[in-house]
Amino acid sequence: MNRESINKVKNRLNFDKQAVIHIYRICKLLMTHEPDNEIFSKTVHNLLYSVSKILEQEGVFSILFLKNDIYLNKARIVQNITSFAASDFLSKLFSKKGIGGFEFYVLPDSREFLLFFHNLIKYSAAEGTDALNVFEDLLELNGIKNIRVLPVQTLEQITPDEVQVLRDYKKRTLIIYQSTIRFLKDALSSKDYLSGMDMRNAKRLVNQMVDLSGHNIENFSFLGLSAIKNFDEYTYNHSVNVCVLAIAFGNALGLNKRRLAELGLAALFHDIGKLTIPKKILNKPGQLTNEEWDIMRQHPLFAIRLLFNMHGYSESGLKKIIVALQHHMNYDFSGYPRLILEKKLHLFSRIVAIVDTFDAMTTERVYQKALRPDDALRRIISFASKRYDPVLVKAFVSSIGLYPPGTLVELSNGSLAVVLKSNPQYENIERPVVKLVNSSSAQSKEGIINLAEMHSVQIRKSIDPEEVGINPPFYLFNE
Ligand SMILES: [Fe+2]
Ligand SMILES: [Fe+2]
Repeated sequence: MNRESINKVKNRLNFDKQAVIHIYRICKLLMTHEPDNEIFSKTVHNLLYSVSKILEQEGVFSILFLKNDIYLNKARIVQNITSFAASDFLSKLFSKKGIGGFEFYVLPDSREFLLFFHNLIKYSAAEGTDALNVFEDLLELNGIKNIRVLPVQTLEQITPDEVQVLRDYKKRTLIIYQSTIRFLKDALSSKDYLSGMDMRNAKRLVNQMVDLSGHNIENFSFLGLSAIKNFDEYTYNHSVNVCVLAIAFGNALGLNKRRLAELGLAALFHDIGKLTIPKKILNKPGQLTNEEWDIMRQHPLFAIRLLFNMHGYSESGLKKIIVALQHHMNYDFSGYPRLILEKKLHLFSRIVAIVDTFDAMTTERVYQKALRPDDALRRIISFASKRYDPVLVKAFVSSIGLYPPGTLVELSNGSLAVVLKSNPQYENIERPVVKLVNSSSAQSKEGIINLAEMHSVQIRKSIDPEEVGINPPFYLFNE
C-alpha cells in the first residue's frame, strides 16, 4: 500500500468501526422488525453518514467478512471492545449465507440499505446452487442497484489494492484498463486456459469497468479508453477495447449493471477462438490466401470448445459462447459460420458485431491502415441492415457521436483539437466537447471547448493523428 493510501486509512477516524456497528444494529433489528418500521430511521441515518465519509475519501466502500476479521477497502479494521461483538455476528451471518461481503461506488439510499440487509437475513441458498448468483438475482428483483455482493474470499485474495482507494477517476479507469490487458495476456499466454480459467478475476475487472462507465465525469468519457491502440499486443488490446465499447454502448442502451457485466465479459472473450489459429496466419503481414481465410473463419467455432472447457454448462458461460459464435454471422446471416437461425441474433452478439468492427477498423494492422473514427462509423452505417442491426447502428452513432472521443479534428478556425466527450442530444451529434491541441489559445483556461455551446466554431474534418504526430489518448487522460 502506498503512503497516500496508508494516510487515507489512518484518516478514517472511527468511521469504519461505526459503520460496522450500525450495520450490526440494523441486522439485529431486522430479525424482529419489518424494514418499514420507524425504529430504523436513526440507525440508518447514522450508517449513511459514516459510510458517506469513507466513500467521499476513498471512492469506494467495499467490505469483506473473513473469520472474525473485517476488511474495509482491503484494509483490516482494527477492532475495539464495542466493534468486536458486531464483527463476530456479521462474519457469522455472511458466512452462513455463502456471501463474502458487499461493495458500492455510489451511496445507496436508506431504503436500498434496509432492503439489502432485509433480503440478506431472509436469504438461504438451496443446496447445490451458487449462493452468490441466486442472491444477486434476488437483489435485482428488489430494485437494489448500487450494492453488489462479493464472493467469499481467502486472506491471500485480500491484498491491498491501490486501485480501489484511488479517487482520481481517470487514473482508475486507466489502471483497470491496463490490468485487464495484463490479466488476459497472463491467462491466455500459458496453456492453462485449456483446462479452465479462474473467471473471478475477469469478472472483478469487468465489474469495475461497469461501475466506472456509469459515472458522469466532466469532460471525460469512459469509452475514450478504446482510443488506446497497441500495435504489438493487438489480440489483447482489441479484446479489452471491444469490452470497453460494449459496456459504454450497453450503458447508453439502458442495460442494468448485471447485464452490462455479462455483456462486458462476453465481449472480452469474443475472439478467444483465435487462440487456436496458427500464429503465422494470425499475424501474417499481407493478404491471406483463400485457404488461410477458411481457417481464420473458423475462430467462432473454435471458441465453442474452448469456452465449454472453461465453464462447463453454466448460464454465464453460455452468453459468451453465443457471442463468440455469432459475432461474424451478420444481421442478415450472410457472414460466417453459415447458419440461418429462426430468431434474430442475440442482442449481445448484435452489439459486439458493431463495436468489434469499429475497433478493428480504427486500429492499424500490418495489412491495413487505421480508418479515422468518423470514417469507420460511416462504413458501419453503410452496412446497416445487412451486417448490423439498423436500430443499434443508429443508437451507437448517437451514443458516441459522429466524432467519437479520441478523434483528432480540425476546427473551422484552423486549430487542431481532440474530442473528449460527445454531447448526448441528437442535434449536437457533430458538436462534442474538444480539447485544443495547442492550448495556448485564450478561448478557455484548459483549452477545452464545448462546441454545443460555442456555435461560432465547427468541426471541419477529422485528421489522421499519425500524419501530424499526435497521440490522442494523451489528451484524454492527462490534465
Ligand atoms: Fe472475431
Ligand atoms: Fe474481434
